[in-house]
Amino acid sequence: MKSMADKGNALGPMFDLSGKVGIVTGGSSGIGLSLAKVLAQSGVKIAIVNRTAGTGEKAAAEIRKEGGIAASFPADVTKKDDVAAVVDAIEGEMGAVDILVNSAGINIRKKTVEFTLSEWQQILDTNLTGVFLACQAVGRRMIARGKGRIVNIASVGSAIGLVDRAPYCSSKGGVSQLTKVLAIEWAPYGITVNAIGPGYMNTPLIANLMKQPGFQDMVKSQVPLGRVGETEDLHGVILVLCSKAGAYMTGQTIYIDGGWSIW
Ligand SMILES: NC(=O)c1ccc[n+]([C@@H]2O[C@H](COP(=O)([O-])OP(=O)(O)OC[C@H]3O[C@@H](n4cnc5c(N)ncnc54)[C@H](OP(=O)(O)O)[C@@H]3O)[C@@H](O)[C@H]2O)c1
Repeated sequence: MKSMADKGNALGPMFDLSGKVGIVTGGSSGIGLSLAKVLAQSGVKIAIVNRTAGTGEKAAAEIRKEGGIAASFPADVTKKDDVAAVVDAIEGEMGAVDILVNSAGINIRKKTVEFTLSEWQQILDTNLTGVFLACQAVGRRMIARGKGRIVNIASVGSAIGLVDRAPYCSSKGGVSQLTKVLAIEWAPYGITVNAIGPGYMNTPLIANLMKQPGFQDMVKSQVPLGRVGETEDLHGVILVLCSKAGAYMTGQTIYIDGGWSIW
């Protein structure tokens, strides 16, 4: 009789994403690029959406070089017409979108009294309105088809207050709340909507912060696991949330932050 080990990986079909089409906003860099790559390795055809055509194409080319299928579709997620047009173009070229990952995001750090209204709006427009616009444009189509997976990249700052980051934390708290509302509204249509809340992740977004004196000591004192995260730390959960393995999870923000948010 064959042992369990001889029968191969029983979890394989649970994580099978072959032939799916996925949009990754912010897929040209950092977390978005890393998630785009692991989804592509799992068989997802990837549409990279970001503003800069050159970096989007470079990311898509990297994925293709690694054996995946990917193309770049430049767009600004803060612009409703851009988002609508790019979703049209992606569905025309790649097929019906099964997976939407919203990773496009920015941050500015300063004292709350020093923020200009335009800086506040720029962060809210990108991090929260951008997620709303992409979810709305893609969600309409997923509703019509009766299926879909959406994963929004929130932050540890969705759960806890981070000094000098008033607009960022406000936007990310909003992403977690938007995730819950969409999960309830769209559950009857077979769509799950979840969020990932990373702590500090080693990407270009925090490159300057990582160079600041005392940063590593601060991480050691505040993050129970005592280190900055690598984007690979998010790979397991994105595969769960986009596959059959995550079929009964919706409306959650899953914190992958080395335990930072549990203090
Ligand atoms: N790194 C961290 O420590 C950390 C922690 C928690 C949460 N997060 C969140 O994770 C997400 C990704 O962060 P990251 O660290 O990967 O940042 P990143 O390396 O700076 O990448 C940001 C991505 O967003 C795109 N983008 C920015 N504004 C956009 C817009 N208006 N329209 C379309 N694309 C836009 C950028 O491309 P273009 O500039 O070409 O548009 C780029 O692809 C963000 O939502 C961030 O808040 C990051």
